[in-house]
Parts: sequence; C-alpha cells; structure tokens
Amino acid sequence: MRFPPIEKTAVIGVIGAGTMGAGIAQLAAMHGHPVRLMDTNQGAAAAAITRIEKALTTLVEKGRLKEEDRIASIARLQPVDKLDAMADASLVIEAIVENLQIKQQLMRSLEQHVQPAAILATNTSSISVTAIANGMQHPGRLAGMHFFNPVPLMKLVEVIAGAETQADVLDTLAALSERWGKTAVRAASTPGFIVNRIARPFYAETLQLLQEQAATPAQIDRAMRSIGFRMGPCEVMDLIGHDVNYAVTTSVFEANYGDRRYQPSLVQKALLDGGRLGRKVGKGFYEGTPSAVPEPAALPLVAPARVAVAGNDAISTHLADFFIQRGLRIDYQLEASWSGVVIGDVQLRFSDGRCAAQLSHELGIDSLGVIDWPLLSESGNAIAVSCAPRMSEASRQQVGAALNQAGLEAVILRDVPGLVVARTVAMLINEACDAVWQGVCTEPAADLAMKLGVNYPAGPFEWLQLLGPQRVIVTLDHLFQAYRGERYRVSPLLRQMAWVA
Ligand code: NAI
Repeated sequence: MRFPPIEKTAVIGVIGAGTMGAGIAQLAAMHGHPVRLMDTNQGAAAAAITRIEKALTTLVEKGRLKEEDRIASIARLQPVDKLDAMADASLVIEAIVENLQIKQQLMRSLEQHVQPAAILATNTSSISVTAIANGMQHPGRLAGMHFFNPVPLMKLVEVIAGAETQADVLDTLAALSERWGKTAVRAASTPGFIVNRIARPFYAETLQLLQEQAATPAQIDRAMRSIGFRMGPCEVMDLIGHDVNYAVTTSVFEANYGDRRYQPSLVQKALLDGGRLGRKVGKGFYEGTPSAVPEPAALPLVAPARVAVAGNDAISTHLADFFIQRGLRIDYQLEASWSGVVIGDVQLRFSDGRCAAQLSHELGIDSLGVIDWPLLSESGNAIAVSCAPRMSEASRQQVGAALNQAGLEAVILRDVPGLVVARTVAMLINEACDAVWQGVCTEPAADLAMKLGVNYPAGPFEWLQLLGPQRVIVTLDHLFQAYRGERYRVSPLLRQMAWVA
C-alpha cells in the first residue's frame, strides 16, 4: 500500500505533551493543521496548550506572528485523552517517554485506531526505529521524525528509516518537514542516528583532555569557541545536563557492543555521582547560571617582528588570512618544509597528533612546540600550544607574548597529543566518514545535520575539504599510536579519500 502526501490541512496527532510534543504540536498548528494532542498524564495536554499559547503571545509581542494567526493556531489545538481521537489523523507523531516497550505498545495500539493510510512517526532520540516497529501489523508505515529542542526554533529534522519503513513514507515526512520550514536529512536507524552519533567526539575528546589534566574546562571552551562554536564542549555539557549527555553516550556505547570509540568518561561520571548535573542545578563544570566562562581578553594588535607563518598549505594560508583580516603584516616562510608558526628561534608546528616531546625527540630540536589547527573564526582568538620539555623558560615566555601581540591568546597546555581542535575536529570528521561508509547518511546530510541540529560552525566534510584527508589520517594515526586501542582507528572511507585525492 502507498501512503498519500499529507495535505496542508490534514489532521496531525501528537502523543506525549511534554517538551517535544508541545513543540511539535505548536509547529503543526502554526502551519495550518488541526492538531490532536494526547498525554496519559491527565491535564498535561491542556497544560501544554496553555504553554503554547504563551509562546505564541510572545511571538506576537515580538512582531514575529500576526494576532489573527495566533488566534487561528490556538483554535487548531485540541487536547484529547483517548487514542480514538486519532481516527481522522493523516499522521501521528509520538513524543512520549524514551522506553522501547512503552513505544512498541503505543504503536501497536495506535494501529487499531488510525485510518489505514495514516503514517506513524516516532520522535525517539536513541531507540531503534526498527525495534519500535517490531510487532506492528504494518511496520512500513512507521518512520523516525527526530526533531531538535526547541522544536519551533531548530531547523533540523532527521527522517529515519527503520528496516521496514516504506520509501514513500520517508518522502512524505521529508516533504512535510520542509513545508514546516525545516530541513530534512535522511538517516538509517542506527545508534545515535546522525547528530547524536557524529557529535560524540565533541564531548569525548574534551573529557579525555580533562582526564589527562591537560587543560581546564575554560581553556578548552575558549579554544573551541575560537573556531566558531557558540559554546565550548564543557558549556554545552553543562547546558544539556550531565545526566542526559552521559545517558546518550552510554546508549550509543552499549548499542555498539561496547566499541571503545564511544566509551563514556569517568570525568563525567564523577560529575554525575557528585550531583554536579550542570546549569539546571547551578553547578557542573562551572558554577552558576549562565556558566562563567571568562571572555577572551582584548589583545593589542601589533605585528611582532619575530612572528612568521611557515609553510604553504591550507591551514598556514588560513592562519595568514586571519592575520591579514586584522591588518597585521606578518612574515611568511613559504618555502619551509613544515607548516606552523616561527617565533624567533622557536618552531611551533601545526599538530599532526604527535606531542611536542615526541616531535622534539624525533627531529632533534629543543626549541620546538606544537600549535593547534588554526581554524580560527571571528568568534575568538584562543589557540592551544604545547612546548617540548627541553624548551627554555625564556622561549616559552616568548611564545606566549609574541602570539599575544599577534592577536592570539596562547592557551599553553600540558604536552598531550592532538591538542584541542586537531584531535576533536579529526575525530568528528572520522566519525562522519564512518557514518557515510556504513550507509547511515550522505556527506551533505552529515554537514547539514551538524550545522542545523547542533549549530556547528562547519560540517565535518567542509572541514575535511579545507584540511585534506591526509592531514586528518596522519593525525589520527599518531593519536592511535599514542593511545593504542580502538578509539582512533581511521575510517576506511577516509583512507580511500586520500588514495583518490
Ligand atoms: P517529556 O518527559 O518532557 O514528555 C513526555 C510526555 O509523554 C510526558 O508528558 C508524559 O506524561 C507523556 N507520556 C509518557 N508515556 C505516555 C504514553 N504511553 N502515552 C501518552 N503520553 C505519555 O519528554 P520529552 O523531552 O518531550 O521527550 C519525548 C521524546 O522525545 C523522547 O522519546 C525523547 O527521547 C525524544 N526527544 C527529546 C529531546 C529533548 O531534547 N528533550 C530531543 C529529541 C527527541
């Protein structure tokens, strides 16, 4: 059986009137659909409609919604308390508690009440769509429709295919999402789908650095904000809540049979154990709300005679552009056989996943340091640096001072491999490559999902375009050698990209 497109005024059912259900109901009603909102908790649907009314009033006050549209939207919302009320719905979206058995039970019951041509969707963030469909009479009619919080604002919907989902159901839900002003990306039902999978290293690399005592949360957050993230990983984890973030990581880890790439962190577990759940309790990595990450210091911009950019590759050029945009005239050593920054007699080489001690040992150079990938944006000027153990104290001070003069805040880290940005971005790219390799999504879908679902400044494949596969592979291979274990294994897709490049 084929499922017809969902008409503009088709009835939409929403089950579960919590945070997500209320957001979905608001979105559907604002786009002209009569909405039946149901919740097993008595009064919850009516309370959600009251919350939606308030949200719409705020939109009118801000001039983003016409008063007549507010009135019409509210009139379309109907609280209901039985599944019978879904009989005339063309689509029913569930946003109930995240529990497989309860979702399966709901879908089996729903099928008894809806019309044969009705599509069913689940907003689950972590449960297999294939598993939710198990036991349904027509599992082909169920797909994932994964919205992001807050639903009215976030532009992404992951449209997720379970093993049995019909192609026309996916097409219909993608078209509907676009009509509702969202961008739909397609994904296969695999642990974490796209966003919650590819985002794991954003948290995991930071937690690893913290476990290794390499940096403070504020240092890492400043370095990551400087490449365009609106918030650093520690701030984001505090915002999401460590209980929720840890649960997502654990579910992806377990769903992958304990693949160490996704292993949860003892650092986060300790926060959980100590009740430091983040902003919602006023303490996590940071204390208070909002968190107190110091803003970057305004640095004087004077072109220091001793600073030069070495090399002629993509990231040297990116750093050179950063200086040019700030009107700084910096020397260039285009013919250098390595790339990085020269400060007096000190070489700061761009990270390739080796720590400064290893590089210094291999090259026989004492005045050597490693500097992070300078993917700097307008939003910050912090960059991680580490120094080889034999670098003199005077040279270390010279490094910090000269970078400051060139408008960069040198975040001097303990000498760990991969620093902050290099290890995180390399791992985000690697995870995205594996997702594509395994047929979870396409490259453009991965980029769109990360930019729209979690506000990344660039998609993983956009970064890869700039960095080139070889640099990422070399970095990951060095990290692999440093740590051993499964975590830093290179995706087969990434290796193939290097061979065809
Ligand atoms: P919530 O706890 O705010 O709301 C869930 C609602 O469902 C509650 O009102 C509860 O009374 C109701 N409910 C529970 N069992 C029910 C049943 N059998 N029939 C009808 N109503 C029932 O939860 P939230 O955050 O809205 O999440 C809902 C779903 O959306 C979950 O599957 C979650 O994983 C997913 N999700 C959550 C996101 C978030 O940021 N909160 C983001 C994306 C997906």
